[in-house]
Parts: sequence; structure tokens; C-alpha cells
Amino acid sequence: MATRYAVGNWKMNTDLAGAVTLATELSVALREHPPADEVMVGVAPPFCFLAPVKEVLQGSSIELIAQDCHPEAKGAFTGAVSAPMLASLGVQRVIVGHSERRAVFGDDDATVRRKLEAALGAGMRVILCCGETLAQREAGQAEEVVGAQLKAGLEGLSADQLAQVIVAYEPVWAIGTGVTATPEQAGAMHTALREQVLPDLCNGDAPAVLYGGSVKPANIDALAKTAHVGGVLVGGASLEASSFARIVQGCAG
Ligand code: 13P
Repeated sequence: MATRYAVGNWKMNTDLAGAVTLATELSVALREHPPADEVMVGVAPPFCFLAPVKEVLQGSSIELIAQDCHPEAKGAFTGAVSAPMLASLGVQRVIVGHSERRAVFGDDDATVRRKLEAALGAGMRVILCCGETLAQREAGQAEEVVGAQLKAGLEGLSADQLAQVIVAYEPVWAIGTGVTATPEQAGAMHTALREQVLPDLCNGDAPAVLYGGSVKPANIDALAKTAHVGGVLVGGASLEASSFARIVQGCAG
């Protein structure tokens, strides 16, 4: 059975004690109720809490994920964190192209591509995010926008590189709004991505596509059953161990 993914993106939340508590509660919850074999669980704490969260996760199968990386390996980039730095901390995967990075920090497609290559080059795996705004959806451009983001991110990667990448479709209008894409909306986009856009870009072997945007315990069962949804990328509901643990359970195929 194909791997399914349940990833918690903590964004700019928690403090040191809160991050350690959240990671501890999650690992206890998953020890008591282990995820199905095919489900890969990961958490993406803020940079400054990666090391203490890693300590807590030692011995568990929960992946340590970073929310971003800088495209350059080192140098005069005050405040930035590079891919080799993250790899040296034991980070296994990096999120690139999140819509908040694109909208708030000005990450364009070219920057996202450089970050993706930096993360792969440092030996980590990648979650490449894509998604349209409400205005783009209402203008009937959703598939075109998402297709262009994925083309910029993936075109020309080798089969070995592609094997290290998964995609997260996160419609911007569904992030942090409480509005989830309906199973029909998510299903239509995931089907288009998995059956057309990605096979064209990836020589037939399409990466998994996660859904993100107001995923909650109340909607995980419907989302997990939706065609071509290979898992979920969860923001707000990953900040409470019991909600995220419930989402992990619901993620099984
Ligand atoms: P919410 O689950 O809070 O809508 O956030 C989704 C997201 O952006 C995950 O990366």
C-alpha cells in the first residue's frame, strides 16, 4: 500500500516548553495508538525548537521536518537558516513554497525551486506546496496556477530527485479560515494533479499529493477517502496533540 502522510506544520507557534510538551504528548499518544503501517507522521516545529523536539522524538518514527530553508548553503544572510545547517541537526524533510512564504516573504517560483534543490542537495526530502487564491479559483484559473507552480518546482528533476519529493496542495482560501475544500473540490484538483499534471512533469511516476487547509478531526475521514489524497498537511489542528493524533488515525487508507 502506498505511503500516506500526516504532517503537522506548527508555523510560528509554541515556545520552548510548549514545543517540548506538544512533541512529548504526541509521541505518547502515537505510542498508545500507533498509526497504521502505511502512515508516515511528521512535525515541523519552528527552527529554534528543532533540536529540543528532536530529543523528544528520539526512538519514535515521527519525522523531523523544517518549515523552510535558505537557498544558499552559507554566508552573509543575516537571520537565515540553510539546508546543510538543517541536515546537520537531523532534519529529514523541508517544506518549500508554502503560501505564507510566497505571500508574506515574497518567495517566487524561482526561489522555491532553489530552496527545493538546496534541500535535496543537503540530503533531505522535500514537501513542495502549491495552491491557488480565492480570486484565482473564482476566475477559473486554479488548475493553471497550481500546474505552473508545480512545473517551476519539478520540471527537469531526475527520477532520483523526484523520489525524494512529495507535493502538498493547499488552496490559500482554505488555510486558517475554517473553510475546507469540499471532497469534490479536493478530489477534482488531486485527480488532475495525479493523473495529468504530475505524470507529464515526472515521466509517469507521480509523487504523492497531500491536502492542506483547515484539516480537522471532524473532516479527516472524508478527506482521507477522497480520490488521490495521499495525506494531509495540518496547521492549527496540529498544535493540539489529541487533535493531531486523531487526524493521524484518520489518515490510514
Ligand atoms: P490550517 O490547517 O491552520 O488551515 O493550515 C494549513 C497549512 O497551511 C498547513 O501548512
